[in-house]
Amino acid sequence: MRFRPFTDLVFAPIFRLMTIRKIARMGHPILTQVAEPVTDPTAPEILDLVRDMIETMEDANGAGLAAPQVYVPLRVVIFQAPAGRAGAEIDAEEEYDPTAPLTVLINPEIEQVGDEVELGWEGCLSVPDLRGLVPRHRRIIYRGLDIDGQSIEVRAQGFHARVVQHECDHLDGMLYPQRMPDMRALIFESEVQHWLAEGSQKETDDDQNFS
Ligand code: NI
Repeated sequence: MRFRPFTDLVFAPIFRLMTIRKIARMGHPILTQVAEPVTDPTAPEILDLVRDMIETMEDANGAGLAAPQVYVPLRVVIFQAPAGRAGAEIDAEEEYDPTAPLTVLINPEIEQVGDEVELGWEGCLSVPDLRGLVPRHRRIIYRGLDIDGQSIEVRAQGFHARVVQHECDHLDGMLYPQRMPDMRALIFESEVQHWLAEGSQKETDDDQNFS
């Protein structure tokens, strides 16, 4: 049986109870591996994985999650970029969207657009309690497959582009501190207010968990 509407992934627990999976933490080798491509995105075990990832991400208040974070070395990510977090208007001319609904992306590829890079605060469910200032491409186009095996191509900017870059890094064994040019900006969440007081980074949002 296949569930066509994406919402069925979230709201069809009659068929199989979703499970909150344990999240790997920095230091576990699964987080440094390069994950394998998914050969059949429509396989039942991929549906089970994705449903569990959604449950796990929502339980942890994350903006995204990558399969290696739940100990599955496959190229699957989920993410969302709600309007309240986006911090930018949609670029009407180029249609690079700062927001995204809950999205499943399998075997993703990222193409950077232009040279613009911006710093922003990130956190990661695999690096609990910490935040860091990380440079990311401001605009990207990403491509991959959805849970039905259909091709996706999306133009993203701002927070949306950032969360996709963060999640896809997990598939290549990369955690955000490895992207940081200045480790002085790797801090505990509880100390973020000191950086706000300096006014050094207007994009800080202390409700912003990544994955
Ligand atoms: Ni993460």
